[in-house]
Amino acid sequence: MALSHPSVSNDAIQVHAQNVLMKYQQHTLFSVADLTFKQGDVIYLQGDNGSGKSTLMKILAGLITPTQGRVASHGFARNPWWQIDSLLGKAVYLHQHPYLFEGSVKYNLTYALKQLTLTAKERHHRIEQAINMAQLNDLLDHHASDLSGGERQRLAIARAWIAQPKLLMLDEPISNMDKHSQRLVLAMINQLKQDGTGLLISSHQTCGLTALCKQHWHIKQGTVHTSMHVPTTETVHQSNTTELHYGTTN
Ligand SMILES: Nc1ncnc2c1ncn2[C@@H]1O[C@H](COP(=O)(O)OP(=O)(O)O)[C@@H](O)[C@H]1O
Ligand SMILES: [Mg+2]
Repeated sequence: MALSHPSVSNDAIQVHAQNVLMKYQQHTLFSVADLTFKQGDVIYLQGDNGSGKSTLMKILAGLITPTQGRVASHGFARNPWWQIDSLLGKAVYLHQHPYLFEGSVKYNLTYALKQLTLTAKERHHRIEQAINMAQLNDLLDHHASDLSGGERQRLAIARAWIAQPKLLMLDEPISNMDKHSQRLVLAMINQLKQDGTGLLISSHQTCGLTALCKQHWHIKQGTVHTSMHVPTTETVHQSNTTELHYGTTN
């Protein structure tokens, strides 16, 4: 099976981690010899709560330095620390409880595009598309802090979609979310996948979202296991009664 998106060449934008060891105090969280995350990848990152999923994503996004090892970016320069959470970076980590700007939904969506080199027409078009995908039409004038958890996550993903990162790390993007928002987020993530955005999606259990993934990383007993076989929803169906269970287009 091919390891990468068919349209992505070997010089794709990527992050490469080698001989990484992550410790907090004296406790080893995980170690991993070799990991590559690149454009076109759609990876399901699995692991029990506390196994280190968020930590691994932050290491790959350049937000945390591992205790040992080397994390290199290819095809792009990592943001300097003062721009580290910039939406305009090429490798973006989207927190489970996303940070939104103080202001309206509309402000949040337009701010994301400020520094992009798009014409006014392209800019307008992309914002309109994002609003429709995330179904934010009726919420545009609402203050971001008044949104529900699901609406916040939809807004955060719409904003990321507008900014077009090459690599996007989504940390538990549909946990604790109503079914309607789950469906919309799933459709948006599928759109990002079609666009060839590299996606690393964490979830502590399989669901409709993980079903659209093409690779599997599993943090287990302090090691990151990688495979091209993504576990199906059925495999863990018994233990998963609250999350999404519908099929996806892929
Ligand atoms: N800054 C930190 N200092 C000390 N321990 C931390 C820190 N950040 C995370 N941890 C610990 O590392 C473990 C893994 O955390 P995390 O990466 O958030 O796991 P997951 O996302 O898989 O639930 C947890 O036990 C957590 O308490
Ligand atoms: Mg986490």
